[in-house]
Amino acid sequence: MTDGSATPREARGPAQLRVRGLEAWYGESQALYGVDLDVYPGETVTLLGRNGVGKTTTLRSLMGILRKRSGEIDFDQRSILRLAPHRVAHAGMGFVPEERGIFASLTVEENLLLPPKVANSGMEMSLDEIYTLFPNLLERRHSPGTKLSGGEQQMLAIARILRTGVSMILLDEPTEGLAPVIVNRIGEMLTALKAHGLSILLVEQNFRFAARNADHFYVMDHGVMIDSFAVAELPAKREALNTALGV
Ligand SMILES: Nc1ncnc2c1ncn2[C@@H]1O[C@H](COP(=O)(O)OP(=O)(O)OP(=O)(O)O)[C@@H](O)[C@H]1O
Ligand SMILES: [Mg+2]
Repeated sequence: MTDGSATPREARGPAQLRVRGLEAWYGESQALYGVDLDVYPGETVTLLGRNGVGKTTTLRSLMGILRKRSGEIDFDQRSILRLAPHRVAHAGMGFVPEERGIFASLTVEENLLLPPKVANSGMEMSLDEIYTLFPNLLERRHSPGTKLSGGEQQMLAIARILRTGVSMILLDEPTEGLAPVIVNRIGEMLTALKAHGLSILLVEQNFRFAARNADHFYVMDHGVMIDSFAVAELPAKREALNTALGV
């Protein structure tokens, strides 16, 4: 596990998220067997892996939604292992689950206004800033959640987190089921978030999307990390990845 980028990511200072030996269980059934993972400030990190290897479980464990865990989870150099999910959000970590969680009966704007400010990262965006960054949400501001396309729902789910002031967002397969042109819009959205200073931990099956948007990759299999490498190493990793991911 070497890092082939010109400047090692460690040069960014201490990791914003540092995970060591994370184990997690659904009841008696163990799903994570010692996961190690780092996200440095401002980085976009992508977690790759086949279906059922524990990617969503990793995100849920970090947020404290899945409670039965052991190991170390440090965020901004403070342990968050024992914190409830709302406390993790207060610490500055936001989660956009695969199912997006848009309220169908509320409009775009009502959805945007719903979550309270929770964290003091200085990165929270006003409604105006969000609309400037994502003009299509402005166009759709009075549309009910039910009338949004999958891509619009995904954008809304991400934008909604930005109002809360978190400094890192966890995204579970944001491009799933979306048309290529919309996938590109989500990519532009991630670029804007990165420019705003947010760190991003992304679970993604769309390898081409991940290749365009990530600084660093982790590959997961059966509840452990089996590889970790910088985007510069991607070409050399292609064949091994095809085997590991079965693509
Ligand atoms: N609620 C649950 N109860 C029991 N076992 C679960 C639960 N959710 C997931 N699992 C199991 O935990 C393992 C990891 O699942 P997880 O959803 O984290 O995989 P994933 O990598 O996100 O897969 P996918 O790419 O299909 O989303 C799988 O074996 C799965 O069957
Ligand atoms: Mg999943």
